[in-house]
Amino acid sequence: MTNIGIIGAGRIGHVHAKTIGSIADANLVLVSDVNEDAAKALAEKYGARYTTRAEDVFADKEVEAIIICSPTPLHVEHIVAAAKAGKPALCEKPLAMEVESVAKLKEQLKGLNPTVMLGFNRRFDPNFAKIKKLVDEGKIGPLEQLTIISRDPAAPPKEYIAVSGGIFKDMTIHDFDMAHYFLGDVATVTTIGQNLDPDLDDTGDYDAAVILLTNKAGKVATIINSRHCATGYDQRLEAFGPKGSLFAENQRETTVRAYTAEYSDAQEPFQDFFLTRYATAYADELRTFLKAVKEGKELQPSIEAGEVALRIAEAALESAKTGKTVKL
Ligand SMILES: NC(=O)c1ccc[n+]([C@@H]2O[C@H](COP(=O)([O-])OP(=O)(O)OC[C@H]3O[C@@H](n4cnc5c(N)ncnc54)[C@H](O)[C@@H]3O)[C@@H](O)[C@H]2O)c1
Repeated sequence: MTNIGIIGAGRIGHVHAKTIGSIADANLVLVSDVNEDAAKALAEKYGARYTTRAEDVFADKEVEAIIICSPTPLHVEHIVAAAKAGKPALCEKPLAMEVESVAKLKEQLKGLNPTVMLGFNRRFDPNFAKIKKLVDEGKIGPLEQLTIISRDPAAPPKEYIAVSGGIFKDMTIHDFDMAHYFLGDVATVTTIGQNLDPDLDDTGDYDAAVILLTNKAGKVATIINSRHCATGYDQRLEAFGPKGSLFAENQRETTVRAYTAEYSDAQEPFQDFFLTRYATAYADELRTFLKAVKEGKELQPSIEAGEVALRIAEAALESAKTGKTVKL
């Protein structure tokens, strides 16, 4: 049994708490949130204790592993505190607000032997994981092109966008990690940022983008993002090579098809929220974290993966602003 503490009882804190409840040998014991009502509500739902001070989680004798679900600007501080407490941590993406803080993070972690995994949950989606496995096994020959379509059903609240680091660090960061996971090194970044949603004009952020990444071997990843999508949560991936292609399509709640006088072959809409679409991925991510901690194995995705994704995100923003390809 691993006793877990959660820091941040917001949207993703709830996801991880629910997942812990579904894992037989994991137990949520402590929830922290500066908002006492939020901490209390989540803790009471799963029979855990709560606190408004993150420090209590690091110091708690019962807590053996920590899930950092606090807002992005606090990730560095909370990773360092977990390492100082000698507790393994699964930290939500992105690693930090800017690449600069990662250097400081690494400095602070020196000599602490940190055990940290980054929450790039899409690596654990069974469909994407299968494609990665087949690519690695050579099923389509050497990967030549990767296409990732990642569109949210609707934009998050503007207050969230304001502190999120912007579309590339908050949303596309998942796709940058996937591209890095499949391509290895990324050499160039070329972005076209779009402002098509008048409701988001005053956020100062792009609300859609198309990004091209290349690696030194000339492989290309194309990432297509939008903060809105009328058909639901649009999450597709294609890997293309000389011997074939591998596709992961959008998911529905069930595979039921309807045939009537008005229409034929109609299916349920695509799942429309990250909580449902990636429920299995979040669970596999947490199981992987707990297993690796228990067995003392290397944690992946690592802090380094978080840094790479962040570097690509900063390059993507620079390219969108300047209209030029950015070399990494
Ligand atoms: N992997 C994913 O799919 C995914 C999805 C959503 C969010 N996230 C990431 O998770 C993090 C949180 O996002 P969210 O959507 O849950 O945000 P949220 O705003 O819903 O929740 C954050 C919570 O942290 C609390 N908080 C603020 N300061 C705190 C502190 N010092 N100690 C403890 N709690 C504190 C807030 O009161 C809030 O309840 C972000 O970094 C985000 O990028 C990842």
